[in-house]
Amino acid sequence: MSIDPKPVPEPGHLFCFGLGYTGTLLALRLMGNGWRVSGSVRKKETLARASDSGIRAYLFDGNSPLADPDNTFAGVTHLLGSIPPSEAGDPALIHHGDDLRSSKTLRWVGYLSTPAVYGDRQGGVAREEDKPNPVSARGKRRLTAERAWVKAFDGTRVSVQAFRLAGIYGPGRCALDQVRAGTARIVDKPGQVFNRIHVDDITKILIASMARPDHTRIYNVADTEACPSGDVIRHACFLLGVDPPAPIAFESAELSPMARSFYSECKRLDTNRLTKELGVTLTHPTYREGLAAILGAT
Ligand SMILES: NC(=O)c1ccc[n+]([C@@H]2O[C@H](COP(=O)([O-])OP(=O)(O)OC[C@H]3O[C@@H](n4cnc5c(N)ncnc54)[C@H](OP(=O)(O)O)[C@@H]3O)[C@@H](O)[C@H]2O)c1
Repeated sequence: MSIDPKPVPEPGHLFCFGLGYTGTLLALRLMGNGWRVSGSVRKKETLARASDSGIRAYLFDGNSPLADPDNTFAGVTHLLGSIPPSEAGDPALIHHGDDLRSSKTLRWVGYLSTPAVYGDRQGGVAREEDKPNPVSARGKRRLTAERAWVKAFDGTRVSVQAFRLAGIYGPGRCALDQVRAGTARIVDKPGQVFNRIHVDDITKILIASMARPDHTRIYNVADTEACPSGDVIRHACFLLGVDPPAPIAFESAELSPMARSFYSECKRLDTNRLTKELGVTLTHPTYREGLAAILGAT
């Protein structure tokens, strides 16, 4: 049974640690609904780009704290953690955990995590209530970070949610771009599947969670069709009217250590919680709707 989606939460002030692809899209969507948005970037060039979009950005490279945290966090009601953790932990928490804990206005924290916390399921289904079993260093760091965010706000009135995101795609970052750029590859590893998620659906889910805060809750954020990545490339080629590249056997494919780590685990993400608890219906339930929408908009 699904619940009715709640309307957009009352406008507040979001601070996004890491105004990257997802953070910026969320910022733009919220600003369209009357929110104030600020956040952190690592480079001076990105500061100007953010402020051109109406986002107040501050320099934060994870090595030292923000210059003026009291003023930076004044009035912040919602916070998105979008910076990947280092071996030392989450840079935002390391430098600003105490500042954020003492905030009188903060209500909601969303932490962007990854399904690597489940470890390898050999093609089986991974549900949020499953015991995490990360194998990769990446997955272990994420689980530590998820838990650190929750622990930091236990006993406060701030509600912390973790979102385990499948492969993010959207305008400017998808198989269509790879095909157009000539960088698309089909890596053939029999039985290997991945979920993915359109960035518009991520923002929809984050906003739905803001309307229904639930401290310690974890959500798989994924589409409804785990499939080989080659299927997506072939479909993008079909949409663009070009021949797909020849498949390369996994064993002989040149892959970055990060990509190899993705291929070393195989799971299908269960996403019932998104509908049952957040009332979300995905706009792009599979890559087919997602790529068609991107193509229509470009
Ligand atoms: N991409 C995926 O498919 C995927 C899947 C699951 C989870 N995730 C995770 O979900 C989050 C959002 O993903 P995304 O693709 O939207 O991320 P993204 O575009 O890479 O944005 C991450 C942001 O964090 C900043 N950042 C990175 N390391 C930092 C550090 N050490 N100190 C300070 N800032 C730092 C980046 O700055 P710069 O712009 O200067 O790099 C960027 O603003 C990330 O944590 C990502 O790892 C991604």
